[in-house]
Amino acid sequence: MVTHILPFYYLSLQTPIMKKYLLVAGLLLLVQGAGFAQSSYQPTAENVANRKDFQDRKFGMFIHWGIYSLLGDGEWVMHNQKIPYNKYKRLANAFYPHDFNAKQWVQLAKAAGMKYITITSRHHDGFSMFATKATDYNIVDATPYHKDPMKELAAACKEEGLKLNFYYSLLDWGREDYGFGHKIVNGAPENTDWDSYIRFMKMQLTELLTNYGDVISGIWFDGDWERKDANWHYDEIYGLIHRLRPEVMIGNNHHSNIKPGEDYQMFEKDLPGGNSHGWNSGGISQDVPLETCETINNSWGFNINDTKYKTVKQIVQYLVKAAGHNANFLLNVGPQPDGIIQQEFADTLQKVGAWLEKNGESIYGTRGNIIATPTWGTLTAKGKDLYVHILQPPGEAYIFLPGLTEKIGSIRLFRSNDLLKWKQIPEGVFIYLDGVSIDPLDEIIAVKLK
Ligand code: GLC
Repeated sequence: MVTHILPFYYLSLQTPIMKKYLLVAGLLLLVQGAGFAQSSYQPTAENVANRKDFQDRKFGMFIHWGIYSLLGDGEWVMHNQKIPYNKYKRLANAFYPHDFNAKQWVQLAKAAGMKYITITSRHHDGFSMFATKATDYNIVDATPYHKDPMKELAAACKEEGLKLNFYYSLLDWGREDYGFGHKIVNGAPENTDWDSYIRFMKMQLTELLTNYGDVISGIWFDGDWERKDANWHYDEIYGLIHRLRPEVMIGNNHHSNIKPGEDYQMFEKDLPGGNSHGWNSGGISQDVPLETCETINNSWGFNINDTKYKTVKQIVQYLVKAAGHNANFLLNVGPQPDGIIQQEFADTLQKVGAWLEKNGESIYGTRGNIIATPTWGTLTAKGKDLYVHILQPPGEAYIFLPGLTEKIGSIRLFRSNDLLKWKQIPEGVFIYLDGVSIDPLDEIIAVKLK
């Protein structure tokens, strides 16, 4: 059955119409200037370029690491085990990641085929994993380690050509001015100094955006969902970020439609459009890059008992599906408190990297949403190259690509370059798979348009 067809304009990024559109958009930017009032936010040319670069990178490593890692029970341990803040704080004095080696993390990410890293600079426990003057509850001042791992990570990423994004929690379980659990009245928690908390965040964000160089390319906010009625002063916060570093992309895991000033949209534990946990009920933005994040086992922060490791196949297929949905895939690992990324993760990541080494052409730099997602897989595209990903046997000895009316040059099996038979009708294209034993990971078919 021919399903509803998405327009093929995704393929024609370089058509004259698109060029004209880009020109008009560019002129508009010049005329309006790059204003910082986020309600009328227009991304600067650098920001637009960074968005494209981000989309081309496709695959990133998410890292959840903090003093909670010591307890081996995930990053929510303070909250879940009801540990009083003052007792929890004692963990800081025991945090000494003697085996932390930023270069090794970056090498591993590279070996996995990942092109950027997003790391928790501060999570809901409020502990800052970077050098900050805004609080002494940070890794340099409060732990015997006395060093800033983000400095090393930024340097290692820079050296290896990876970008670094900072996860930053809006939610804070400990600070008085946050007032966790307080009632929200007129946009602010009762009986606290909410303005002081906003000032604190702005000070920290300024540090994060000015102390680590141009390798920093995004801020990943989280925790908005804890107090939906609060006035988070996004206008000021986003305005500050874009003023300091116009190219830096702002994303916010608030689980709803993007807000003015945001440069990318994220989907937690779901592909865009999915809503398996009731979190992602907002729409899918057509204007900004998309990113979906998932865990390599079942936890974000190090969890010593979690052995629900995802398989290489699950990860490869998730990456492919994300690309097919025009989204990046941010795959999380929670390093141990000593700084080591456990062997089980490393083994899987290396195998995923080996797959990408061979098949990366069909992922990096591509765009998705080519046709309505077929039951057997998905499609990615780059210019005149279409990559058909068969992720499960289609059930017939052929597949059908609805809406593909462009002139076809050739259709080949990607892995062998063997030509495949095909037939084009006004509604689309049949590709015949006689004699092809489908690779259970992903059988890629390369379609060259004329
Ligand atoms: C949720 C969790 C948080 C985690 C994040 C990653 O928001 O609260 O712990 O960092 O998901 O997507």
